[in-house]
Amino acid sequence: MTLLKIENLHTYYGHIQALKGIHLEVEEGEIVTLIGANGAGKTTTLRTISGLIRPRDGQILLDGQQIHTLPAHRIVEAGIAHAPEGRQIFSTLTVTENLNMGAYTLAADKAAIEENRQRVFDLFPRLEERKNQLGGTLSGGEQQMLTIGRALMARPKLVLLDEPSLGLAPMLVKAIFDTIQEINARGVTVLLVEQNARAALKVAHRGYVLETGRVVLSGAANELLRDERVRKAYLGEQ
Ligand SMILES: Nc1ncnc2c1ncn2[C@@H]1O[C@H](COP(=O)(O)OP(=O)(O)OP(=O)(O)O)[C@@H](O)[C@H]1O
Ligand SMILES: [Mg+2]
Repeated sequence: MTLLKIENLHTYYGHIQALKGIHLEVEEGEIVTLIGANGAGKTTTLRTISGLIRPRDGQILLDGQQIHTLPAHRIVEAGIAHAPEGRQIFSTLTVTENLNMGAYTLAADKAAIEENRQRVFDLFPRLEERKNQLGGTLSGGEQQMLTIGRALMARPKLVLLDEPSLGLAPMLVKAIFDTIQEINARGVTVLLVEQNARAALKVAHRGYVLETGRVVLSGAANELLRDERVRKAYLGEQ
């Protein structure tokens, strides 16, 4: 079943057109990756889906319902959570407080919040060990875990991950990709934006290649891994 359907999406920053008619679909249960060079429009696509920027044209459907007209908090309630680029955590709040911020749609349901927090701690034991530590004192990798964990606190159907492996040491990169597969195995559909195209295509079912605001290529992840153009432009091969 199609969970997310994006049709002819056009998004601008003032006069600058960042998205020039994006078409994209995510089936329930999939990991789909968006790859592309710096400035291709990957982050803008995620920000448009989560309602942080309004598209000027086109539509976004979740379970067949239009969401591109909804305010961002309603989009979270509808089942989409966004782990943004660049570890945007609250540095003066503890790990637990940061996680709770991701569960604001559950409002006063303390039991549900606690249950979700325990799920996140099961996924990231490192966060549980540091639950009373201030966000700003976590290492880069731990902050990245917190960003993802906070998104999962809303129990989303679909999680949008923007460059989760950015700036991490190779061992942590592997751990993050393993965790993304684990999150998916637990029933969350994933839309993953990555510079690390090879690792992303290895965990994803399907992928889309973005160039200057347009999808130029899409298909099964294992086919994209073998594609000549992808290998040259995104996998660093000659
Ligand atoms: N706030 C903004 N104001 C003006 N232009 C912007 C803004 N944010 C992004 N852009 C422009 O929109 C285009 C797409 O940017 P976007 O951040 O979506 O790229 P990206 O694919 O995520 O790149 P990266 O891999 O570097 O994160 C770029 O040309 C960028 O300069
Ligand atoms: Mg980006």
